Amino acid sequence: MLITVISILPAPNFSASIQRRFIYHSEIQIMGIGHGYGKVILFNEHFVVYGIPAIASAIDKRTIAEVKRCQGKSFILHDDREATPGYKEEKADQQKESIERIKEAMGIGECIEIWLHGDLRAASGVGASAASCAAIARAIADEFSMSFTDEEINNFAYEGEKAYHGNPSGIDNTCATFGGLVWFVKGKKMERLSLPQPVEIVMGDTGRVANTKKAVEGVRERREKYREKYDAIFEEAEKIAHDARDALLAGKWEDVGKLMNENHKLLQEIEVSSPELDYLVEMAMKNGAYGAKMTGGGLGGYMVALTPGRELQEKVARAMEKEGFYALRTKIGI
Ligand code: MEV
Repeated sequence: MLITVISILPAPNFSASIQRRFIYHSEIQIMGIGHGYGKVILFNEHFVVYGIPAIASAIDKRTIAEVKRCQGKSFILHDDREATPGYKEEKADQQKESIERIKEAMGIGECIEIWLHGDLRAASGVGASAASCAAIARAIADEFSMSFTDEEINNFAYEGEKAYHGNPSGIDNTCATFGGLVWFVKGKKMERLSLPQPVEIVMGDTGRVANTKKAVEGVRERREKYREKYDAIFEEAEKIAHDARDALLAGKWEDVGKLMNENHKLLQEIEVSSPELDYLVEMAMKNGAYGAKMTGGGLGGYMVALTPGRELQEKVARAMEKEGFYALRTKIGI
């Protein structure tokens, strides 16, 4: 059997995961497989936790999970995702709790071995945890021949997200599971939005790993303390969401950009931005972006710049890369 396995191994430049699939296929041990998309929040992260509408989009980068049954412990994890330095170490405990939560929600008592890979770089602010939760839930369902709707997969991913966010709004797992551009209100059915045409964005990674749970808790504490001030900010955020929706649907990129800048100011006021995020936002604006803001939990992680057209996208991304930041070129509304 071993000779057979070696004889069918693909060329050494194939990724480890592809080599692994060839091996298992040769032994007729096909594993369960699933995917989840990364995301970008365009408007109203944090505010969304309190029922304010938010707009977010899946991006064209995914996490892939492969799962097979094993002997012994609850699970064995091989996390082969590319990642911002320090990300995996920082998230290790939350990741363990997350996998256990997903298994429990799906009623899986057996030991499972999980491989994570894909082209979504694991970092804060890009929905890496939600993408992995959706991918793992789908791979488990596949391995155990369980049939679930996307809605059910989304619920399992939400259970997993609780380990990372505490009390998630559900926006990240919704993007990770369903893909597309969404209008999201906590506790309500998400609504799909479609743009007149896809538009380029740049996502810049500060390289700082952030703790979303802490960021969300911080907002809650400050909101309780400064209720009047926060109510006024939240009201403003709600207005921005509606204006942004109209501007996006009409493809009015200048207006969308301005609203992103306003949204960033509100996020600064509730103290979830960081000097690195503000620096990248300023850099994007100096290089011609139509608008820029932090995205996701904040306190580090990613920011997003609206850069219609390949030329502008390239200019903004290169400016970031010149200073050693990781820049992700993608589009919304694909
Ligand atoms: C994190 O990507 C988005 C937050 O609004 C948390 C959540 O909605 O669960 C900060």
